[in-house]
Amino acid sequence: MDVTTAMLTRRSEHVLLDPAPDDNEFTYLLKVAAAAPDHGLLRPWRWVLLRGGDRDALGACFAEEAGEDRRSQVIAKIQRAPLLASLIFTPVREHKVPSWEQLAATSGMAHALMLLLHSRGFGSIWRTGQLVHSPRARKLLDLGEGEELLGWLYIGTPDPAGTRKRRVLCDVSGRLTTLSAVA
Ligand SMILES: Cc1cc2nc3c(=O)[nH]c(=O)nc-3n(C[C@H](O)[C@H](O)[C@H](O)COP(=O)(O)O)c2cc1C
Repeated sequence: MDVTTAMLTRRSEHVLLDPAPDDNEFTYLLKVAAAAPDHGLLRPWRWVLLRGGDRDALGACFAEEAGEDRRSQVIAKIQRAPLLASLIFTPVREHKVPSWEQLAATSGMAHALMLLLHSRGFGSIWRTGQLVHSPRARKLLDLGEGEELLGWLYIGTPDPAGTRKRRVLCDVSGRLTTLSAVA
């Protein structure tokens, strides 16, 4: 699949089934995604992969914080994909490359990874929400001080009966100008 086709056809997939890439395939795709632009080549990120029962451990963190009434709902949400890849931002502080640039590089890597997964027939969705601030989740994932949880890529195989359509292309005309038009 060429890059243009991948960009045109990737959608965030809400229903994700087995299989997900195994650890070897994920590692390979991550190596490729790590070739995304990165000022200083700091690679200021790391991933923690959760499958099977490991997802339940994360679900339990959220359930504790969600309270009794939302417990089953929160646990069910964690089961929405066979693989949850936790993205952790590990900025190098006091570096000449500012933190915002490191975050930009991390986002570029994550997007590249989503495109690569899509090109191999896998689907994904990046999910965030309040849960990224969960102290229990931070502890489970062993986040150090200064590290930030950027959410999870939910990864699996899109439902073959799914009806996700190509995205309508954005009208960028109002977001594009030249210096002569400004003058
Ligand atoms: C940083 C980031 C966080 C996101 N968090 C969520 C989320 O918490 N829940 C969700 O349903 N989608 C989330 N998304 C997915 C977006 O909603 C989705 O990309 C957008 O609706 C466009 O759809 P598309 O990816 O199919 O083009 C997130 C995307 C990004 C880049």
